[in-house]
Amino acid sequence: MNQARFTRFAESTHADWAIIDAHFQRYQNDVARRVLEHLRRLEGDTHGYPVDRYTHSLQTATRALDAGADEETVVCALLHDIGDDLAPANHAEIAAAILAPYVDPLNVWMIRHHELFQGYHYRAFYGLDPQAREAYRDHPAYARTVRFCDEWDQRAFDPDYPTRPLEDFVPMVERLFARTPFGETLTVKAPDA
Ligand SMILES: [Fe+2]
Repeated sequence: MNQARFTRFAESTHADWAIIDAHFQRYQNDVARRVLEHLRRLEGDTHGYPVDRYTHSLQTATRALDAGADEETVVCALLHDIGDDLAPANHAEIAAAILAPYVDPLNVWMIRHHELFQGYHYRAFYGLDPQAREAYRDHPAYARTVRFCDEWDQRAFDPDYPTRPLEDFVPMVERLFARTPFGETLTVKAPDA
């Protein structure tokens, strides 16, 4: 039962895929724990910012939660920078991809574009257009992305802010990743199905 026997997919059998599927379901069910483990990797180096990315992430989520944002939005806030260590040049894509199977497409768009929208507050320092986000003014996720950046993300660098601990958000993360990815369960079917 433990491992498939093929050496190439072309030779695989239904029994092989039933084994793999059982493993995958367990792996899928453990994704929240692994996401939180990765979030903790942002702890430590501040990269010159007033707080490290871990504190920034917790503080962004704290601000969203305390402002009355819904749970999905709070989890998006918590995880929006989780790709920072692996993809510092395009980190938003990582968080967007991790969240995409579980959240509203408008929230995926918000996370994917938060770098550009956040740039409203610093792009000028790099000689870039701070108003670049205005190109998306008519997008249905424009308002929520502006709010996310202006009210929570760009303000979440305060070492003295009463930032909530990760424990406050763990149940929310677990509930979100317990949702059915993309709303559809993919399982191996019986041979005669
Ligand atoms: Fe951020």
